[in-house]
Amino acid sequence: MKLCVVSLGGESSKLIAKEARNFFDDVSEIGLKNIELCLDDKGFTVKDHEGELEDFDAIYVRGSHRYILLQRALTRALYKKVYMPIKPNAFTLGHNKLLGSLEMQQKGISIPTSFFVSNSKQAKSLLGEVNYPVIIKIPEGTQGKGVMFADSESSARSMIDALEAFKQPYIIQEYIETGEVKSEDLRVIVAGGKVVGAMKRISHSADVRANIHASGKGESVQLDPDVEKMSVKAARAIGVDIAAVDILKGRKASVIEVNLSPGLKGIMKYTGKNIARDVAKALYDKAVEFKKKKESEPVKTKVSDENGFDEQYIESHIERGSLCLPRFITKGVGFVNGDDLVVKLKKGELRITKHNIRKEEED
Ligand SMILES: Nc1ncnc2c1ncn2[C@@H]1O[C@H](COP(=O)(O)OP(=O)(O)O)[C@@H](O)[C@H]1O
Ligand SMILES: [Mg+2]
Repeated sequence: MKLCVVSLGGESSKLIAKEARNFFDDVSEIGLKNIELCLDDKGFTVKDHEGELEDFDAIYVRGSHRYILLQRALTRALYKKVYMPIKPNAFTLGHNKLLGSLEMQQKGISIPTSFFVSNSKQAKSLLGEVNYPVIIKIPEGTQGKGVMFADSESSARSMIDALEAFKQPYIIQEYIETGEVKSEDLRVIVAGGKVVGAMKRISHSADVRANIHASGKGESVQLDPDVEKMSVKAARAIGVDIAAVDILKGRKASVIEVNLSPGLKGIMKYTGKNIARDVAKALYDKAVEFKKKKESEPVKTKVSDENGFDEQYIESHIERGSLCLPRFITKGVGFVNGDDLVVKLKKGELRITKHNIRKEEED
């Protein structure tokens, strides 16, 4: 079994790749920045990498929100052929708190009451109606950097004016009161449909943000079964097999976001658990499951007829009106890009032959 970890080369990605060598026969690490997409027959190519990406059994794509388009495109092209733990649409949902929260709300997962409006006039009228304090956050913020706390209507108004001046969209969200003295949240790592590690993060001083990057401190925590279930459900709702789910436990628990490329160093330190190994194991188990499923797909009877033609039964696949034939047909027939082909068709039958100009000239 062959795994490829595509990433920006961060420590956690390297750690997962290292642990994965205990399970997979071969593990490659590819830089996200080395991947190029050429929208012709070449498709995706990788600098300094021989072989095709679709020859891997599993590809784990990590990286920051700056690379969403590339990550999503890569996954869109390969996720039906290779096991990929993050589905194409998840790159958008996981990196956008508005779309991610909407998806979770639609799938029955509790989230903080949140508002999103199209203009400052509407926002300001809303600010006259909500209870304070409120959280104002940037949909694509990370590491706590886009999260602001407004304890009154006047501070919320000035924050919104500043955000509008930068043409920055924002979410106005109910403030969830958590810890007794300092704010805290739960960071839960889900891998392969189960929780493999969890910590409580407690904010430093008066900051409402408990992120480790905002100088929060972590400690190991035993999760309630309903919070465990909620975390697994949230990852599934977004379309990811490996994720970090952030949860606030106020009067009830609510999910604030699902992270696609969580750092593992902090949580491994605070829990004392080798979570990178659990993530690697989940990748392996899921890749094996994916491969078995793919191989058990009816590969239809192959026979050769009296003229030496191989005959197989396949299901037709038509995309935007174009008939797509599987790779084994391209390989078996030996056509290469740019070949002149003669296409003969009538209702219910199609024949494609290579056009041999030299032979015709000799004739
Ligand atoms: N609605 C909220 N109520 C209270 N605290 C919040 C709320 N939203 C976020 N926080 C605090 O801010 C931190 C960062 O918020 P989050 O939405 O996870 O953004 P980021 O992607 O920057 O981590 C959370 O871990 C939590 O401590
Ligand atoms: Mg967070």
